[in-house]
Amino acid sequence: MYDLLSVRRDFPVLAREINGKRNTFLDSAASAQKPQVVIDKIVDIYTKSYANVHRGSYQLSEEITSEYEQARKTVQKFINAKSEQEIVFTRNATEAINLVAFTWGRKFLTKMDEVLISEAEHHANLVPWQMLRDEIGFELKIFKIKDDGSFDWEEYCKLLSGKTKLVAVTGMSNVLGTVFPLKEMISSAHAVGAKFLIDGCQYVVHHPTDVQDLDCDFLAFSGHKTYGPTGIGVLYGKYDLLNAMPPYQFGGDMVNIVTYQATTFDVPPSRFEAGTPAIVQAIGLGAALEYMMNLGMINIYQHEQELTNYMHRRLKEVDGLIEVGTAEGKGGVFSFLIEGVHPQDLAFILDKEGVAVRVGHHCAAPLIRRMGYESLARASLGLYSDQEDVDTFIAALQKAKTFF
Ligand code: ALA
Repeated sequence: MYDLLSVRRDFPVLAREINGKRNTFLDSAASAQKPQVVIDKIVDIYTKSYANVHRGSYQLSEEITSEYEQARKTVQKFINAKSEQEIVFTRNATEAINLVAFTWGRKFLTKMDEVLISEAEHHANLVPWQMLRDEIGFELKIFKIKDDGSFDWEEYCKLLSGKTKLVAVTGMSNVLGTVFPLKEMISSAHAVGAKFLIDGCQYVVHHPTDVQDLDCDFLAFSGHKTYGPTGIGVLYGKYDLLNAMPPYQFGGDMVNIVTYQATTFDVPPSRFEAGTPAIVQAIGLGAALEYMMNLGMINIYQHEQELTNYMHRRLKEVDGLIEVGTAEGKGGVFSFLIEGVHPQDLAFILDKEGVAVRVGHHCAAPLIRRMGYESLARASLGLYSDQEDVDTFIAALQKAKTFF
C-alpha cells in the first residue's frame, strides 16, 4: 500500500507556500525534491563524520570511506548490477555519457563504424557523439520516432546493422515521456554485435531497473533526479568493458605506481574517480535510493502510472491544449502547448498560482523542432505528486487561458 500522505510529509519543501498558494511542484523531471532522510544524512555526515575517503588511517576517514563504499553497494542493489565494481560515481549523467564517449568511444570506434541514437535524445546523449564523430569520422545515425512520440521498430531496424558499434538511447524521453522497449532493442543490438548504452536519467527514477535482466552494456543516471543531491551521477558498465577502457581524467586515487617517468592505473571503478570525489553527495544519493527502495520501485511505478492516466484525461478538458507525446505506456512527463499562448507567459501565470512547470526546449532542441515546435511547456510528476497537484494545475491552466 502506497501511503501518499506520509510520502508527501517526507518532503519538507512541499509544505511551503509559493506566492501564497499551495506548492504544486510539477518539475521533477528537471530536478526532484529531497526527502528529509537525504537532508538528514548530509547534515549528519558534515556534523559527525566528515573527512576525505580512501586516504586517511584514522577513524573519521575509515568511517566515511565505509559510508561512501556502502553508497556504491546501494547503487549496485538499486539497478541490480553484478558487482559494485561496475558502479562509477560521476558528476551527473552527462559526465557518465561523456566518459563512455571519450574513453570507450575513442579506443574502440573507427571511421568505418556507426553509432545509432534516436530522434528523442537529450543534448547530453547527442552532443558528445557529434563531437566524437567529428574527431573520429564514424557515422552518427539517428532513427526516427513516430509522430505521437512512440518508438518505431521499423525505423530502428532499418538503421541497425553490422556497422553499428554502439546504440545509445534514452530509456524514457524527458520531453515525450516515451518509454523505449529496451530489452528487445538491446537484444537486437547485441545480435549485430553492437554495445548498448541507456541514458537512464528519466527511466530509473520511475521504473524498477535490472541491468542484468536488460543486459545493457552501459547505463547513466543523475542523483538529483532520483531524490538525491546535485553533483553526483552514476555510470554503470559491465566490468570487462570498464576494465578495457582507459582513464577519463588523471590525478590522485586512480593510480597504482607513479614515478616521474610513468604511471600505472588502478582497476575500475577507482580508475575513473580521479581526485577527491563528491563524497557527501554519493552518500546522500545512497540514502535517496534506499528511500525509493523502501517505498518499492514497483509501488512508485504503479502510483505514477495511475496519476499519469489521470493527468492525461484531465488535460483533454483544456480547450486548445496540444499534448506533445502521447505514446502508449508513457511516463509522467507532459509537454504541451496552448494555442495562442506563449509557454513563457503561461509559466509566469502558473507560477502565480504556485504551479511550477518547465518551459523551453528541455535540453532537447532538435526533438522539439522535429515535433514541430520551438518551445513547449512541460509538467512532470514525481513519487510525491498527487491528484490535487493535477487538479490545481488544470484549474491554473483554465485561469491562465482567461488572460489571452
Ligand atoms: N534534463 C532536465 C530536464 O529535462 C534538466 O528538464
